[in-house]
Amino acid sequence: MQNRAQWQSRLGFVLAATGSAVGLGNIWKFPYITGMNGGGLFVLVYLFCIAGVGIPILAAEVLLGRATAQSPVGAFRSLSREGSPWVLVGGLGVLTAGTILSYYGVVAGWCLDYVLLSATGRLTATAPDDVPSLFGELYADPARNVVWLTVFTAATVWVILGGVRKGVERASLILMPLFFLTLVILVVHSGTLPGFGEALDFLFTPRPENLSPAGVLEALGHSFFSLSVAMGAMLTYGSYLSKKESIPVTTLTVGTLDTLVALVACLVLFPIIFTFGMEASAGPGLVFMSIPAALVQLPLGALWSILFFALLFLAAWTSAISLLEVLVAYGIDEWKLSRKVSTLLFGAIVYLFGIPSALSGGEGFFGKGLQEATGRNWFDWFDYVASNWFLPLGGLGISIFVAWKLEDGLRRAAFGEGTPEAWQARLYAGWLMLLRYLAPVAIVAIFLHVIGVI
Ligand code: PFF
Repeated sequence: MQNRAQWQSRLGFVLAATGSAVGLGNIWKFPYITGMNGGGLFVLVYLFCIAGVGIPILAAEVLLGRATAQSPVGAFRSLSREGSPWVLVGGLGVLTAGTILSYYGVVAGWCLDYVLLSATGRLTATAPDDVPSLFGELYADPARNVVWLTVFTAATVWVILGGVRKGVERASLILMPLFFLTLVILVVHSGTLPGFGEALDFLFTPRPENLSPAGVLEALGHSFFSLSVAMGAMLTYGSYLSKKESIPVTTLTVGTLDTLVALVACLVLFPIIFTFGMEASAGPGLVFMSIPAALVQLPLGALWSILFFALLFLAAWTSAISLLEVLVAYGIDEWKLSRKVSTLLFGAIVYLFGIPSALSGGEGFFGKGLQEATGRNWFDWFDYVASNWFLPLGGLGISIFVAWKLEDGLRRAAFGEGTPEAWQARLYAGWLMLLRYLAPVAIVAIFLHVIGVI
């Protein structure tokens, strides 16, 4: 336990954890589900979900990692009696991380393809009405998808091979400032567009008639995905955190940054959408079809498009790094592999499972075949199972374990270490209330929704 690597600085942990949280979920998914759920009120509900459920579970996860200095399976094992089924929650986390990573790389690959499309001038040479069909071409092209998946997997493996300090922390210290700089440039640019006012109104004026109960549950489910909780990533990063750091302070910082990025991403995208009179409710195609179709009509369109898709790529990369680290830390801790062997092994496994996802837009078995037989292609199945079943199940397991099973003295001490004494008691009481009551009830509501009861 004493030899376990630790983050060199608090900033290193905060940026790595923020890098994990800030991903495709913030820039691709959050804006499009906000658009589909009518804006204003959905955003407000999302903020409540993050503050009331997401951040408390995030703190619980970091606590489990830090208290045990273990990856997910070992963390649950060392805090429960022998042979206890709680270990399965840790195992589920590892499985979820692998499942998500396998298809996450395909979407990250699309970002790289778009950077290239923009840089070579092909995007700007396309008439706006034809831009959406560029995505159709990419989606259906197996070779292009596999090539990008390979590049992306290699980039992720390369960082993880470097280890916690020289790989993950160093990459975060370089990539995250670059990410924030790019985001600021893009939002300042969007602020000059005529559609900015309409975007503000759309995002921040609540209109109750536009939000359905299903939208509320979608906000809740997305808050988990966005904060990277319930799949062991934050637990694993927490296992490298020094006891001198405060869990409430660092997790509140990470949760706030993640949420701010999601909101700013909306402020980048919606002014562009509204300036060109496009539909806010375009769905998943918002970022890969509507946005490029609008960008090609702007002065310096190629530049904005390169910056935007590079931003998306950076976000995806730092998230994928954390997902692979879950698997690799598991291999090191549980199977006693070296970092090198564990990284290459799990990198290869995830890559193999990613290939069918890369082929999912095509005519073959993994795409059209499965789609026609089961209603979903391989990519959609992986996303569906991970997001709708594994994630809520993992979140439920973590919140019940920490809130109801852990011995109070141990939990209080593990939560409080590194936090100024004057704040400890109140923060602890508030956190525990949310984790005990609100989190499980909210997650059970997600399940009832998934199985169609509510
Ligand atoms: N939080 C990431 C996003 O919003 O895109 C997704 C993610 C990354 C989930 C890492 C889980 C994780 F471990």
